[in-house]
Amino acid sequence: MEYTLDIARQSPGGKPWRQTFLVEDSGESSVSTILDSISSQVSLDAEGEPAEPVVWECGCLQGKCGACAMRINGVPRLACSAFLREFPKRRILVEPLGKFPVIKDLAVDRSGMFESLKQAKLWLEGEAFNSKFRHDACYQSAMCLMCGCCLDVCPNFMPDEEFFGAALAVNAYRILEQSEAKSIALEYKKRYWHTCGKSLSCDKVCPAKLPVEELMARANAIAIWGK
Ligand code: FES
Repeated sequence: MEYTLDIARQSPGGKPWRQTFLVEDSGESSVSTILDSISSQVSLDAEGEPAEPVVWECGCLQGKCGACAMRINGVPRLACSAFLREFPKRRILVEPLGKFPVIKDLAVDRSGMFESLKQAKLWLEGEAFNSKFRHDACYQSAMCLMCGCCLDVCPNFMPDEEFFGAALAVNAYRILEQSEAKSIALEYKKRYWHTCGKSLSCDKVCPAKLPVEELMARANAIAIWGK
C-alpha cells in the first residue's frame, strides 16, 4: 500500500515548510520507522528530489521515554507507537509539538518543561511516607514520560509562563503524597491550581495512558484541601 507522509521541515531561524514522501508499506510500520528510513539514506521526496535527512528525536522506540513526541495528523503522540494502519486514508501529516521551540524539523526544545519541574522543587527532602493504599497511584504518577503531549493540547499552557500544567500536577502528586513539605503545596497552588481551566484536554492525550484526571484530583485534595 502507498502512504503519503507530509513532513514539516524547518531550519533554525527559518520558516516552516512541508515536504511530501510516498512510502510503500504494509501498514505495520510505525511513523518512527518511516522517519528512520527516510533519514538514514538518501531519500527522494514525492517530487523526485533528494531530501535532507529529517531531524527528530527518539530513544527507546518502545513508548517508554517520550522523546519521539510529535503531532501526527494534528494529535500529539509518540511516533514509535503510531502505526500506519491507524490511518485508513493513508495520508499522514507529521509536525513538531506546537508549544515548544523548534530546534530543527520535528525536534523541539523541551528543556523549559524540565526547568519548570526543577523550579517547583519536586523532590523529597526528608523521609518518604508510603501508604500501601496509595502505592498504585504513586506508581502511576512515576510513570509519566514527561513527553510534553499534555502541555501541547493544554489551552492554558504557554511556554515561559508560570503555569506548568498536567506535567506538574501528575508528578507533584506522589511528592505531595509522600512528603510533609508545605513548600510543594505552595508551588503547586502557584504554578498549577490558580491557572488550570479544568478543560481536561490533557487527560485524553497521555501516551502512557495515565489516569491524569485522577492524579490531578488526588494532588488537589492534598495541596488545596489538606486531605
Ligand atoms: S522513542 Fe521512546 S517513546 Fe518513542
